[in-house]
Amino acid sequence: MEIFREIKSLKAFLRKKKLAQIQIGFVPTMGALHEGHLSLIEASRKHGLFTVCSIFVNPAQFNNASDLANYPRTETTDIDLLTRAGCDVLFSPSAQEIYPQKAGLRFTFPGLDTVMEGAFRPGHFSGVGLVVSKLFNIVEPDHAFFGQKDWQQFTIIRQLVHDLNFNLTLHAVPTMREENGLAMSSRNQRLSAEEKIKALVLYQTLKLAEAELLNGKTMHEIFPKLKALAENDSSVKIEYLTLANRHTLESVNTLTQKNQLVLCIAGFVGEVRLIDNILI
Ligand code: PAJ
Repeated sequence: MEIFREIKSLKAFLRKKKLAQIQIGFVPTMGALHEGHLSLIEASRKHGLFTVCSIFVNPAQFNNASDLANYPRTETTDIDLLTRAGCDVLFSPSAQEIYPQKAGLRFTFPGLDTVMEGAFRPGHFSGVGLVVSKLFNIVEPDHAFFGQKDWQQFTIIRQLVHDLNFNLTLHAVPTMREENGLAMSSRNQRLSAEEKIKALVLYQTLKLAEAELLNGKTMHEIFPKLKALAENDSSVKIEYLTLANRHTLESVNTLTQKNQLVLCIAGFVGEVRLIDNILI
């Protein structure tokens, strides 16, 4: 695997691939890689693409300084995992390389960025829009792969690609879970063994809610009960449990549309904020 830390050398390298008509698949990440990230690399490889992964912990998308400071950084292991996964190129730039001067551009995604994560993390999706636009301009991929795990992020990037005419095909890859159902996340590395078991409550709450909805219950009816059940353990705090149209993210109260909805949850387990969702 070739490793680049500078935009200029990466671009020069990729230009040769493009001239040779080689199609590029791109997987942007913030590192601390796990099997979920590797499934995106695998999806790109399965499409027969020359695969570029980026690792960049993007300061612009953190609205909390301690979350940025505590974000796990495990580059040596990441390089090893990517090499074994058959990734072709790693782009791992410094903050100075991506933001040589303070960025002025702000993004809003009306309807999509004020709900769920947007309501709890002001400015987060502007920072995501900014860095993903920069990375798309740097790598100029033909295909880009994102996880269903961050469904709201995926819908926002779909809007970004559409609005800015990025010439690429987007793919959403299903969420990789631990055997017990816990969604894999870089933030899980910050959980103690005990907290990791408690964190399962997020997925369990999603599945309980889904069962109740399928029985004809409404979100208004089930939310207080499920929140109280999840927070029975005092180290768990649910921020939201939202049923929404999976394209517009408009919230809905019942299972009115089949195969059009997403059920999303966010909560703290101890100090660590986690999210999860299921498509319904
Ligand atoms: P990060 O959290 O590192 O995630 C990188 C990609 O991996 C995202 O597309 C995310 O949805 C996907 N992913 C995470 N956990 C997953 C899982 N369990 N199964 C499948 N895919 C999973 O998301 C970001 O970084 C950043 O916001 C980024 C897009 C890189 C912009 O900075």
